[in-house]
Amino acid sequence: MKQSKKKDNRKKLITATNPNSIISEEFISVKTNIEFLSIESEKKVLMVTSAEADAGKSLIASNLAVVFAQQNKKTLLIDLDLRKPVQHHIFGFWKEAGVTEMLVNGAFCSEEIIKKTEVERLSLLPAGTIPPNPTVILSTQQLADIIKKYSQEYDQIIIDAPPVLVASDAQLITRLTDGIILVIKSGSSEYKKVMKAMELLNRTGSKIIGSILNRPSVEAGKLYYTYK
Ligand SMILES: Nc1ncnc2c1ncn2[C@@H]1O[C@H](COP(=O)(O)OP(=O)(O)O)[C@@H](O)[C@H]1O
Ligand SMILES: [Mg+2]
Repeated sequence: MKQSKKKDNRKKLITATNPNSIISEEFISVKTNIEFLSIESEKKVLMVTSAEADAGKSLIASNLAVVFAQQNKKTLLIDLDLRKPVQHHIFGFWKEAGVTEMLVNGAFCSEEIIKKTEVERLSLLPAGTIPPNPTVILSTQQLADIIKKYSQEYDQIIIDAPPVLVASDAQLITRLTDGIILVIKSGSSEYKKVMKAMELLNRTGSKIIGSILNRPSVEAGKLYYTYK
């Protein structure tokens, strides 16, 4: 995978470029909360989702993955937003093979597809080619097998998932995870959508372990979170 537009995207990975910033502290605090919850039941595979697009899921998933890796966890970030993948871009890779190729070709050639990032202990499994029907890919047993295999090889897996209200993709992913982190875009018009998304997620039987209130419209540094 060739490197792409590295400099442009580095600022999105504030936890990597500026680990002592207030925003990095906030991500560490989210990570610590997750670890506390893990005492009760393991939270090794977590998905980050939201009601609609542009809530800041991808930004939050990537920075959360960085802080897990910085704190000595061998971490794998998986881009399962097969309709709008961006993690390869955030980490400075051109889009090449990813989850889709792994599943379509039946190839477990993880050494080639999984990329080591510039952050020590953090690897990325990109989404790969956008498939004609992501729902089919996300329903496969092979995907469940892949995640199971990597959950044995890594200490922490973070999945960047699609939004809940766009298609059934996010709901399908819940079956593969130990918990859901719901990113809420701030703004009063969001309330009903968030309630609807929570209802759909709860129906899957998976647990929303926390929610992060994000303000994607303002400058980086204004990232708020709440945890329950
Ligand atoms: N707290 C924030 N401050 C500034 N920009 C943000 C913040 N959260 C997200 N963004 C920006 O908003 C855009 C959408 O965020 P993204 O993480 O791609 O959303 P999603 O994955 O939910 O669609 C991106 O350009 C991202 O860098
Ligand atoms: Mg995204």
